[in-house]
Amino acid sequence: MALKITVIGTGYLGATHAAAMAELGFEVLGLDVVPEKIELLSSGRVPMYEPGLEDLLRRHVAGAEGSTGRLRFTTSWEEVGAFGDVHFVCVNTPQKHGEYACDMSFVDAAFASLAPHLHGPALVVGKSTVPVGSAERLARVLEEQSPGDVELAWNPEFLREGFAVDDTLHPDRIVVGVRSTHAEKLLREVYATPVAEGSPFVVTDYPTAELVKTAANSFLATKISFINAMAEVCEAAGGDVVKLAEAIGHDERIGRKFLRAGVGFGGGCLPKDIRAFMARAGELGADQALTFLREVDSVNMRRRGHMVELAREAVGGGSFLGKRVAVLGATFKPDSDDVRDSPALNVAGQIQLQGGQVTVYDPKGNDNARRLFPTLAYADSAQEAVRGADVVLHLTEWREFRELDPAVLGEAVSGRIILDGRNALDGEAWRAAGWTYRAMGRPRA
Ligand code: UGA
Repeated sequence: MALKITVIGTGYLGATHAAAMAELGFEVLGLDVVPEKIELLSSGRVPMYEPGLEDLLRRHVAGAEGSTGRLRFTTSWEEVGAFGDVHFVCVNTPQKHGEYACDMSFVDAAFASLAPHLHGPALVVGKSTVPVGSAERLARVLEEQSPGDVELAWNPEFLREGFAVDDTLHPDRIVVGVRSTHAEKLLREVYATPVAEGSPFVVTDYPTAELVKTAANSFLATKISFINAMAEVCEAAGGDVVKLAEAIGHDERIGRKFLRAGVGFGGGCLPKDIRAFMARAGELGADQALTFLREVDSVNMRRRGHMVELAREAVGGGSFLGKRVAVLGATFKPDSDDVRDSPALNVAGQIQLQGGQVTVYDPKGNDNARRLFPTLAYADSAQEAVRGADVVLHLTEWREFRELDPAVLGEAVSGRIILDGRNALDGEAWRAAGWTYRAMGRPRA
């Protein structure tokens, strides 16, 4: 009989994982402790913007027209315990307030709630990003608190927001930290389709599986900060970081991806993961190994400050008082409505705190941004945001912004100056329309 799967936590990761498991043919029950989320998901809607996710959900959620009915949602731990053979824990692990370490309270609560309801044989699979050593501790929790024969595996997730559905259905690798061949066998069954399609399946112990995730995100963060450090040097030396990235990227050992210089990385993962990694390494007495991540973090945060300074220069070099600044983009990356630790909003906020009148427009992120920064002004279009602006800042590289007509926008602004914080606009086209176009890490034309 086909395995029955539960997914605990229905954020970006859990909602996508649940729908993807149903797509792979399993019966799936998703749980969240927030009843409103469950109501929304049960009616075939997702609480965030993620391309393709709502369609996938509707294809499977019970009750939707023409759906397979393989996917249901609940708030009941009892139901989850009785239903599943394999339980995926997908709750989030944010940064602790005032500390570098990550907050494990949601993971701990999920295990404490689930364990007493596991009466039969079951495999619990952790997917959350956790400090190394957590799996071993959580395995003991299951051992002590589950009445049934329960085992733990750790299976980190590498999906990117904006590509979550595709990354989940066609992962570029599957990593499982297991303690038995039984657990490995069950996970090979769960992932049989992607493995048959060629996804590598890497079997490790618990600590390695946990570390693979933090190591991967640390490497990506380092790559971005490396190119942003090169941008700083290019700015000082009159070089062009975009050309530099292209040229070094032709070396296959370096590769071209994740070498886009600009206002740097943000979001709910990279920044907090490198900090939690440093904190955990410190606890383990290996802090020296990761001191470079402190620099990665600093380079990244410095880019935000640098964008503020470029904007100041653009409005005359003095104060922002009485100056109008248009900010295009609020999310931490395009194709997402996620504004967590967003460089765009950070820059907008800094300028506003210094007296600038900032108007933000984002194709999908305005609502979330408004909740986080209610004092900024928000516009319903790029055209509206730039009206009367002394300078325009391009801080999230949505396709919509690349397709803007600089000549049309030029009619609305008070000063034709655009600062490209993502090196994504066609500078020549903007200049041809009479704009001063400046990009980070590139020479002034
Ligand atoms: C990241 C990882 O890429 C995923 O593999 C991982 O699963 C996920 O975190 C997670 O831990 O859950 P995500 O946060 O969705 O995914 O976003 P990325 O695509 O990694 O981008 C992160 C930030 O880096 C964005 O702000 C983006 O604008 C910035 N970035 C990215 C650059 O500034 N330059 C680049 O060249 C690439």
